[in-house]
Amino acid sequence: KEIILRFSGLKMKTDEIRERFLRFFKKKGHKIIPSDSLVPFEDPSVLFTSAGMNQFKEQFMGRNITFRRIATCQKCLRTQDLEKVGKTPGHHTFFEMLGNFSFGDYFKKEAIEWAWEFMTKDLNIKEERLWVSVYIDDAEGYNIWRDIIKVPKNKIIKMGAKENFWPSDAPTEGPNGPCGPCSEIFFDQGPDVGCKKSTCTPACDCGRFVEVWNLVFTQFDRQSDGRLLPLPSKNIDTGMGLERAASVMQGVLTNFQIDIFK
Ligand code: GLY
Repeated sequence: KEIILRFSGLKMKTDEIRERFLRFFKKKGHKIIPSDSLVPFEDPSVLFTSAGMNQFKEQFMGRNITFRRIATCQKCLRTQDLEKVGKTPGHHTFFEMLGNFSFGDYFKKEAIEWAWEFMTKDLNIKEERLWVSVYIDDAEGYNIWRDIIKVPKNKIIKMGAKENFWPSDAPTEGPNGPCGPCSEIFFDQGPDVGCKKSTCTPACDCGRFVEVWNLVFTQFDRQSDGRLLPLPSKNIDTGMGLERAASVMQGVLTNFQIDIFK
């Protein structure tokens, strides 16, 4: 009874979303590899694995590349999220992140096209329910969404480096190393959720919009003096919160109501 039906597409279990994601990217030529350990083995810069990209820092720098396309489902823990757990619908002590990665192979156009294809065809989410954001200076990303994917202009939101750079605010705050502008995909839970203002967009933090997928265009190597040097090649790093995707696909308002928590 606690389930609030607000989604008319497929009802999909978390396990099936994970399997479909990996199968989709396998068909697009990706090698599927296992999650890295939650406590990274050879990375002294972090205590826990906080994203799918962590295990590929070397590859983003252009080194040790065995496969140019990889997809994973990564076990994650974000210490900066811990204060939010229990206060928001979608932050956890532990979560799984689906990701596809390109090391000097495909770039923005394919990453955006495939993310859209997966969400609207494989997950069957209605296009009207999806909004996107781009980094304020990323005209290329904006144009792909507008001209190729045909997302209406009013549903493409431009945001700054806090929201649309990975890591967040990397140009000013660091850390050093691979980073880049990003573009996010949001699911609209509808005008009866959150602040209920007609002007609400994904820039509002009222909870109406669920940030489901982040597409990072990893093209810079941040230096200690703050300079963003181009990496040897342009890369893709995406992260989709599995539990958030499941909340969308199961028509519930918080991640804690999805099948795997039950
Ligand atoms: N590395 C991309 C993300 O975690 O959103």
